[in-house]
Amino acid sequence: MLRSTLARIRCPNCLDGKSGALALHEIKKKLGEDILSASLRCNDCESEFPILAGVAILVNDIEQYLCLHAKGISSFVKDDEVPLTYRESFLQAKSEILDSEEDLESERVNALYFMNHYVSAGKTKSNPWWRPKQNFSPEIDRLVKNFWDKGPFAKIAEWTKSAKHQNAIELACGVGGLAQILALRVKAYLGIDSSFTSIALARHINLGAPYPLSLNSPQDLYNGPLTGKIAAPKPLKNKNIDFVVGEIEAVPAPFGNFDLAIALNTIDVLADPCELPKRQHALLKKNGVAIQSSPYLWHSGVAEQLRSELPKKIKSSSEAVAYLYEQQGFQIFKNIEHIPWLFLEHYRKIGVYSVHLFAARKR
Ligand SMILES: C[S@@+](CC[C@H](N)C(=O)[O-])C[C@H]1O[C@@H](n2cnc3c(N)ncnc32)[C@H](O)[C@@H]1O
Ligand SMILES: [Zn+2]
Repeated sequence: MLRSTLARIRCPNCLDGKSGALALHEIKKKLGEDILSASLRCNDCESEFPILAGVAILVNDIEQYLCLHAKGISSFVKDDEVPLTYRESFLQAKSEILDSEEDLESERVNALYFMNHYVSAGKTKSNPWWRPKQNFSPEIDRLVKNFWDKGPFAKIAEWTKSAKHQNAIELACGVGGLAQILALRVKAYLGIDSSFTSIALARHINLGAPYPLSLNSPQDLYNGPLTGKIAAPKPLKNKNIDFVVGEIEAVPAPFGNFDLAIALNTIDVLADPCELPKRQHALLKKNGVAIQSSPYLWHSGVAEQLRSELPKKIKSSSEAVAYLYEQQGFQIFKNIEHIPWLFLEHYRKIGVYSVHLFAARKR
């Protein structure tokens, strides 16, 4: 975590909007201004939060977090760097890890997000990274050429063109590619996500933090899971950009402090979707702007709950989410019902989502 980030984070156990400033404590390892191993202590409740491999872990239950994310964390953090209080349960969780390709800590899933966030099809015409030299699919080729660069990031770049001197926060930022766009526009950006591996990758690409894993892409799986070569962009070297681990339900940042609060493709993974507009509203200044997108892949129980709570006149996911934002005190002023969002899983499989994207002002 960069030293300068201290001013933009808060203790997740003191979420009244005012208290919860954190102070650095026991710095064990740093690289210039980047604190790689240390502890953060809350000035009010004295809770402590570790910084491991440069990643500040700002969640309510540190022990539970370390155990649930043991797989991702253990690729970056040596056992003896885990705070002593939690080490025994961490080691127990690590010994029970099941190897699942689908979880968000998996290297291949991160590779898909890396391509989705950081690689353009238009700017790399001379190196068509999405296709093999021979036997490529003309359909996949056409989809990538036509739609890869026309997703939510391109639209947000357009919407934030004049966003100078703004303080931006992104909730569930994943591997952090939006920072590349916002860095050119806003004064400061803080990305928050619950995945340790995603935050470590975001910090590596954008800030040049150490990263022990490889950064390749899937190509022909016959040759192995990650055999494609794609170069990452150069680090931004901007002291006002950083990424920390945190949860939407207890965002570790000061209330009423941000001009822009973005959350892409996340409302449908939350157990309670109302949490998202509520948290964005609390974080924003008056007239601040929330941006939301989603393909609305609800868990059936969550959709059922929404249907039981929302007025009967609401008949679709996009109407339901617009209603949640309006109820929270937002006014939607830009709205795109369908925007393509592509995931290239390997050279024979591509996923095309069509997401709803809008911008809403806090009244
Ligand atoms: C579908 S991904 C979208 C990532 C990124 N926003 C994008 O559009 O590419 C959902 C993200 O939400 C994060 N996430 C899920 N539940 C969360 C929570 N309760 N708090 C913070 N992040 C969460 C996951 O780690 C993951 O990065
Ligand atoms: Zn506190």
